[in-house]
Amino acid sequence: MLIALASVKGSPGVTTFALALAANWPADVRRVVVECDPAGGDLAQRFGLATSPGLLSLAAAARQPVEPDVVWNHTQLLPDGIQVLPGPPGSQQARAALSTLTAPNSPLYGTARRPAVAMFADCGRLDPGSPAEVMIRHADVLLLISGTYNDELAHLATRIHELGHTAARACLLLAGHGYPTHAVERELGIPVMARIPDDPTAAARYTGRAGGRRRTGGLTRVAKTVAQALSSGSARDASRAVPDLMPHVPGVPAQPTAASGVRVLPPPALHNGHPHTSTSGKDVRS
Ligand SMILES: Nc1ncnc2c1ncn2[C@@H]1O[C@H](COP(=O)(O)OP(=O)(O)OP(=O)(O)O)[C@@H](O)[C@H]1O
Ligand SMILES: [Mg+2]
Repeated sequence: MLIALASVKGSPGVTTFALALAANWPADVRRVVVECDPAGGDLAQRFGLATSPGLLSLAAAARQPVEPDVVWNHTQLLPDGIQVLPGPPGSQQARAALSTLTAPNSPLYGTARRPAVAMFADCGRLDPGSPAEVMIRHADVLLLISGTYNDELAHLATRIHELGHTAARACLLLAGHGYPTHAVERELGIPVMARIPDDPTAAARYTGRAGGRRRTGGLTRVAKTVAQALSSGSARDASRAVPDLMPHVPGVPAQPTAASGVRVLPPPALHNGHPHTSTSGKDVRS
């Protein structure tokens, strides 16, 4: 199964959530996180890994015809047992590797299609023309992650319908503080699969800045829920079990947002200088 994760603007926590999702995926499935971010990877720096083996070494190998299982020769192991293919820190090298590894005969696709394998492709920020878009076209599910402040939502609104058509299934996840989930759903006319809470403690662990167990906290809880929803049954059945952002939602207007972005909502109640998730302090999906 190939799960692509991406954002459209900012750094809402895609790399962090990719690791959280892999860590909370059923343990009897072989899991690998592939850093397909065209802007360059972060995992090697964050976890003190070498940049090779990883995306570059796999791309070099894949210039010849190779068996899909060659992917496992290019992974490194994180302390909690997750295998990763770290991307190079530089954008030029990352893009060059992606041009090889997104080709139709890429060993990544073959590996992701193997039974009992879950591949998490961190596609970074999906600027128009991103080389990672090809990877998303091959994905069983795209998890699009966005922050919920005005600027982030405005960018999301301009791309969401186009991106929703790129993947077989696309699901929207919101991250952090900002407008409440129900307000974003209303404004975009799209259901939200989950809200990733602001959870600096767990995020520090998933970004290599702290050790210890990762089994509690809001971020882990949401990762578990999403992992369960997506992993239960085949990709097709799993994606039916979660709301997707494609326009089959009854009553959703074809153009729910202005070309310039979302309509301005009434400002949320401020709490310590930040908009609160709701006046009651709890978001409907948190
Ligand atoms: N749920 C969260 N709660 C609190 N902090 C978070 C959360 N998720 C991520 N962060 C923090 O936000 C920062 C950015 O996270 P991350 O690198 O995962 O974002 P990204 O979307 O992959 O960014 P980029 O597109 O630049 O690669 C990191 O410092 C991370 O620790
Ligand atoms: Mg990232």
